[in-house]
Amino acid sequence: MSIMQGKAGLIFGVANDRSYATHIAESIHREGGVCAFQHLPGEKNERRTAKAVEKLGITDPWLFPCDAGSDDDLDKLFDAYAKRFKRLDFVVHSIAFADREWLQPGKFADTPRAAYLSAVDISAYTLAAMAQRAKPLMADNGGGALIGMSYYGSEKVVPGYNVMGVAKAALEATARYLAADLGPHNIRVNTISGGPLRTLASSAVGGIDKMLDQTPKHAPLKRNVEGREVGDTALFLLSDLASGITGQNIYVDCGVSTIGVAVES
Ligand SMILES: NC(=O)c1ccc[n+]([C@@H]2O[C@H](COP(=O)([O-])OP(=O)(O)OC[C@H]3O[C@@H](n4cnc5c(N)ncnc54)[C@H](O)[C@@H]3O)[C@@H](O)[C@H]2O)c1
Repeated sequence: MSIMQGKAGLIFGVANDRSYATHIAESIHREGGVCAFQHLPGEKNERRTAKAVEKLGITDPWLFPCDAGSDDDLDKLFDAYAKRFKRLDFVVHSIAFADREWLQPGKFADTPRAAYLSAVDISAYTLAAMAQRAKPLMADNGGGALIGMSYYGSEKVVPGYNVMGVAKAALEATARYLAADLGPHNIRVNTISGGPLRTLASSAVGGIDKMLDQTPKHAPLKRNVEGREVGDTALFLLSDLASGITGQNIYVDCGVSTIGVAVES
């Protein structure tokens, strides 16, 4: 069964073959969905995204430059997508940014206003900005689905996650409010809270090595999550199999977020 057959959508956040967005694209492509891709402006970024996407067997991919912090860039991308594709069934928001200087353990209290606001802007507000532009296209076809990528640091203190934890709390709340507003148009909005994975973005987080080291010791499944497991959960949430699920945050973290007191076994 190809559960995404006949569906098409936009994926934000493929930087290289390790990106969570690449794993998500792989799952959607495997199940027959058509993926179009955003990349950060610049030839080097375009080349890196193209290389990762082509490795998945997606030949001649549709790629478009967009800094999600720019409303103008977002308008241009959604306009170009609408001209090229007949339908928009899904949007994957797998982007985040915070100045790495403020992602060091013990530095949260010093976060300057500009660093705080830009983290929340790029990592959380952009989900609302994408949903605004996706809404008319999805509503035309009877509905659609969006997902964003979160992390446990939204709920509990994870050393070094700092302002990104604040941004992820905003992202999860944004998804819930969007789900309520867009539900009457049959547009669903969910987030996935993924376990730690070595990527460009996670290398900026001061505590990433500890997160990767501690998870196998304490998680019920005794290992770190694999990118494909997040990819397949995203596939499920974007497919009709999840038609009754909206406004939720789904943990794909080998269960580590369920452990209250970590005891070495
Ligand atoms: N890797 C992890 O451990 C982990 C865990 C949980 C959640 N996440 C989340 O998963 C998502 C993807 O991150 P990743 O780990 O795959 O890293 P990644 O570096 O591969 O992806 C981050 C993406 O954000 C994009 N981006 C940054 N600023 C942007 C802007 N202004 N406009 C448009 N795009 C911009 C980058 O180009 C890149 O493609 C992020 O939301 C991240 O917070 C990651």
